[in-house]
Amino acid sequence: MVLVTGGTGLLGSHLLLKLVNDNIEVRALYRTTEKLEEVKKIFGYYCPNANTLFKKINWVKGDILDIPSLELAFKQVTHVYHCAAYISFNPSDFKLLERINREGTANIVNMCIAVGVKKLCHVSTIGTIGRPILNEKATEETEWSRQHTNPYAITKNLAEMEVWRGAQEHLQIVIVNPGVILGPGFWGNGSGIFFKTASKGYPFYPPGGSGFITVSDVTRSMVNLMNSKITGERFILVAKNLSYKDILSHITSTMEKKAPSKELKLWQLQLGKFGDQIRNIVTGKARTITNSTIYGLQHPTKFDNSKISKALEFEFEPLDETIEFSSKLFIEENS
Ligand SMILES: NC(=O)c1ccc[n+]([C@@H]2O[C@H](COP(=O)([O-])OP(=O)(O)OC[C@H]3O[C@@H](n4cnc5c(N)ncnc54)[C@H](OP(=O)(O)O)[C@@H]3O)[C@@H](O)[C@H]2O)c1
Repeated sequence: MVLVTGGTGLLGSHLLLKLVNDNIEVRALYRTTEKLEEVKKIFGYYCPNANTLFKKINWVKGDILDIPSLELAFKQVTHVYHCAAYISFNPSDFKLLERINREGTANIVNMCIAVGVKKLCHVSTIGTIGRPILNEKATEETEWSRQHTNPYAITKNLAEMEVWRGAQEHLQIVIVNPGVILGPGFWGNGSGIFFKTASKGYPFYPPGGSGFITVSDVTRSMVNLMNSKITGERFILVAKNLSYKDILSHITSTMEKKAPSKELKLWQLQLGKFGDQIRNIVTGKARTITNSTIYGLQHPTKFDNSKISKALEFEFEPLDETIEFSSKLFIEENS
């Protein structure tokens, strides 16, 4: 039996779809029934028999911070994909981030060891990959430091440390470090923000850029790594390094909107940060522009994807089709 955590999120729902399509016996954690409807919607994007596929999943109510619920979920489990995490760049969310990302991962690792799971595939992020000196591309070996890093990346680094501890205790593990995951649904977070921003047709774009990958490439590489003999390794999953201008222009073109043409200047970002702080104090809304975000925009990192390509003879798919497909669905659902 395969267990998936985070199955009610963007990545986890796509992974579940791949696993049931591959006829793998799969169990998934969920916290609320509303999110199960979201998963059905994702399945419906790809296949007419979404309900039949959805019913193949053995859903177990549970929380990665609740050990008794994990004890039930881990019964007969041999392989675990740990996708669950909390994503927020708001500094005041640090405690919650630390609990879900580090403590939650520690619980998963401990359960894997306790029940003798054969292999754990842990989902991390490129945020835990170091920044290289000069213009080199970052690799899995580039040294990471907390300096100029956001709270999400810090807690995802702590989560990885828990997974490495598991490896020390003889648990077979692989870690994937995806860039921004492009795919449809869950528009309020992750790459959904790019589709939301592009749909507004703003003239401005932020400086810098990031690594991008389609959701199906992430799930394909996770399953291939799980089924391989590879263990005790981490892999950057980035199909393409792109500037924010390029990715936003690409998405706006599929939405028949004007491409952004004016780069946001440092003073505008600082002003935005100030406004964001005020908004946070007055309305309690989460902060999105912080010192670490501004530093990241000014010092973009490019990522080397050769390790996974060599290890699995993996060929990344182009981003175009996924962007077009996601834009179309975004417009249908949000117009
Ligand atoms: N999206 C990206 O661009 C991106 C890029 C790099 C890495 N990642 C990593 O990829 C993974 C999946 O990201 P995503 O975009 O799919 O995130 P997402 O859509 O926000 O989904 C997060 C998932 O984690 C679950 N979760 C959160 N707290 C939990 C808890 N205490 N107990 C059990 N489940 C909990 C959520 O459950 P509920 O539905 O109940 O909230 C949801 O299923 C994460 O590890 C993330 O760090 C994402």
